[in-house]
Amino acid sequence: MIPLNKETFFKEKEAIEGLCDFLRGSSKFSMGSQCREFETSFAAYQGRKYGVCFNSGASANLCLLQSLLNLGRLRRGEAVGFSGLTWSTNVMPLMQFGLTPVPVDCSPEFINVTSRELEERLKDQPLQCLFITNALGFTGDLDKIRDLCDQRGIILLEDNCESLGTELPAGKAGNFGLAATFSFYVAHHLSTIEGGMICTDDDELHEMLVISRANGWDRNLDPAAQKRWRDKYGVASEFESKYTFYDLAYNLRPTEITGFLGLHQLKHIQENVNLREKNYLAIERAFSANDELKALKHGHILKLSSFAVPIVCASPELRAKYLARFQEAEVEVRPMIAGNICKQPFYRKYADQKYDLPGTDFIGQAGFYCGNYPELSEDEIKVIVGCLS
Ligand SMILES: Cc1ncc(COP(=O)(O)O)c(C=O)c1O
Repeated sequence: MIPLNKETFFKEKEAIEGLCDFLRGSSKFSMGSQCREFETSFAAYQGRKYGVCFNSGASANLCLLQSLLNLGRLRRGEAVGFSGLTWSTNVMPLMQFGLTPVPVDCSPEFINVTSRELEERLKDQPLQCLFITNALGFTGDLDKIRDLCDQRGIILLEDNCESLGTELPAGKAGNFGLAATFSFYVAHHLSTIEGGMICTDDDELHEMLVISRANGWDRNLDPAAQKRWRDKYGVASEFESKYTFYDLAYNLRPTEITGFLGLHQLKHIQENVNLREKNYLAIERAFSANDELKALKHGHILKLSSFAVPIVCASPELRAKYLARFQEAEVEVRPMIAGNICKQPFYRKYADQKYDLPGTDFIGQAGFYCGNYPELSEDEIKVIVGCLS
């Protein structure tokens, strides 16, 4: 059996031994110095001013939108675009917050929104914000998408939960918009078991994320920012400040275990990404001559931080043949994320307006993926190649 994922951590033995030592030697496990250090180091790796750590990628998505609402940069009812091929908790907060979700179609060649699909949508539907998903390590032409958003005053956010480490000539995936979210759930590029992050360069947004992550209070802000908030609301004493809640919030805090594991895994992230890219390219080379399968476009990507091996068959009928091959070879597979997310029960229950997404429908009907991870052996790669040749 070749599972979707083998190990919880890259260099697992080292990670677990390190974690045991950390737990034995520490007396504080709620969010503290390990999380702060992880935030600073992750932001430096990503090339962003701030990192704010969360207990999951879904929490990061939720907090990002809540913070923009708190700041008045988004308002209830406003139209927010999202990728037709995405994850539930990218779209659900749009509905939970009373924003108007507007799907943007994805190109089967890129398995992502490109500037072409975005321009098409913008012809009949203005957007206040675009919360784009970079799917399975791949991206659309993010530089052109950013230009379109800039020209039209659209706030660009990236859900980069599946594409940590992917890099385009114009910069890293996750660095094209106001902010980006990341997931550190098991099987993602960097695992802290559960965990997430938001990166941004925006001072005001960073402050609101910190407030909205933890109860609405100011305890995790630096002293100068605390003073500003306390002065603004006339909070006269340190005593009173302890239970002063400034804006709408949750408790989405990570623990020190997240911080410790994140720092450990971050040390090895480039090796991890390089191995995933090498595996993907070896598999792709072997099946690119097969005209029953569509090779995905990634010529616009400098570093392909492969999350999994996405396969798009030339037709939905052909998918059955390849799924049978993978089953026979005991290689675990999954649907192409949620397919067209607008066809999911939750979406049909709550969305008022219907949009055609032919590209995303095709990806959902003709696509599937199998795992790609650093521990994949050469023999296992041969088995996968055998299924695709
Ligand atoms: C695109 C995308 N966004 C958000 C999430 C949510 O991340 P988490 O599982 O850490 O909550 C995922 C999870 O896989 C995802 O793939």
